[in-house]
Amino acid sequence: MMNGFVGSGLIACAMLAATAYGQNNGGTTPEAAPQTNSSQAESAPSVGLKDAFAGKFLIGTASDLRGYSDAELANIKANYNVITPENCMKPQPTQPSEDTFNWTTPDALVKWCQDNNIKVWGHTLCWHAQTPNWFFQPGADGQPVTRELAMARLKNHILTEVGRYKGRVIGWDVVNEAINDGGAGETENLRNSSWNRLIGPDFLTLAFKWAHEADPEAQLYYNDYNIDQGSVENKGKHASSMLLLKRLLKEGAPINGVGIQGHWHLDTSIPDVEKAIADYESLGLKVSISELDVTVTGGNSGAFPGGGGGGPVSAEAFQQQAQVYAKLFDIFNRHSKTISRVTFWGISDRRSWRSGQRPLVFDARLQPKPALQAILDVGLGKNVTK
Ligand code: XIL
Repeated sequence: MMNGFVGSGLIACAMLAATAYGQNNGGTTPEAAPQTNSSQAESAPSVGLKDAFAGKFLIGTASDLRGYSDAELANIKANYNVITPENCMKPQPTQPSEDTFNWTTPDALVKWCQDNNIKVWGHTLCWHAQTPNWFFQPGADGQPVTRELAMARLKNHILTEVGRYKGRVIGWDVVNEAINDGGAGETENLRNSSWNRLIGPDFLTLAFKWAHEADPEAQLYYNDYNIDQGSVENKGKHASSMLLLKRLLKEGAPINGVGIQGHWHLDTSIPDVEKAIADYESLGLKVSISELDVTVTGGNSGAFPGGGGGGPVSAEAFQQQAQVYAKLFDIFNRHSKTISRVTFWGISDRRSWRSGQRPLVFDARLQPKPALQAILDVGLGKNVTK
């Protein structure tokens, strides 16, 4: 299933671009093909996304690589040089019950990536979601879980997982989404997660230290969504993220960078994105755009908004989406000394967690959307937007 494709990236690229991206696919489901309109056909890209940004930053996608067709695997090989496992390295699947680990899917993913010269980015070690309840429940003696027991469980999880993939995973989203939504930015505004309640706010620094202990060469990042929001005015979630990161650095957390998830939409503030990158750079940190997608319907960019959309999308909306992507990649290009990686959250609108909102650069049939060419043009210096 995972090894059926043999061929070069350029051949794969040509295979991907056979049909037109029509002017309107209104009324179709996300899985249906767009109407063909040969007069407006997207021309076949001759270069993969990763090649257009070679020497600047890695270009990634998210997938667990299960049940993918040969065409999908070919698309990955043609366009991306790093993969983030979309779900299979999270605490729920890797340690569903205490000391029972499950590595089947992540092992297969890491092997396929090694065989195909694709790097792996680990996601994620410490999170409030997709984490089994046993971490926070009484131990064998039936006593309420203490700070010490919660620490021991988190440490064991991190040492085991990071240790297993030492030297084969280039870096980790060590802590995911620790900051709450909706704050003014005057405090760190940490989420009232079980980790925070049981261990206290130093759970982040501890997690980074354990990850570093297990693999001193791995890049270690803090990852969150909407942490670009409010940066121009130095308020809101961005301001909270700056307070948190300054504290982690002061506490000696071995942190190398920040993942701005980048679950964006047509109205996302582009100046906020640029200022956020510059702010993190000023702390001496690297930045990744770790879960990039730009939805064309439904403005909510928070986590788990519940799909949404799925109705008609006009050709104009896809052109707007292409413009937003072009503006974003223009920023990434200009900050390429700071940006280490830009990872799309999925390979196609069919595979996206927000498939109804058509957020990616290949459509449900794996055909290029206007956004793909717009991004390639920026990478190849053909169309620099401001
Ligand atoms: C999402 C996956 O894409 C879905 O398949 C899954 O059902 C839920 O998680 N922020 C993150 C990612 O850090 O792990 C989430 O991934 C999307 C939001």
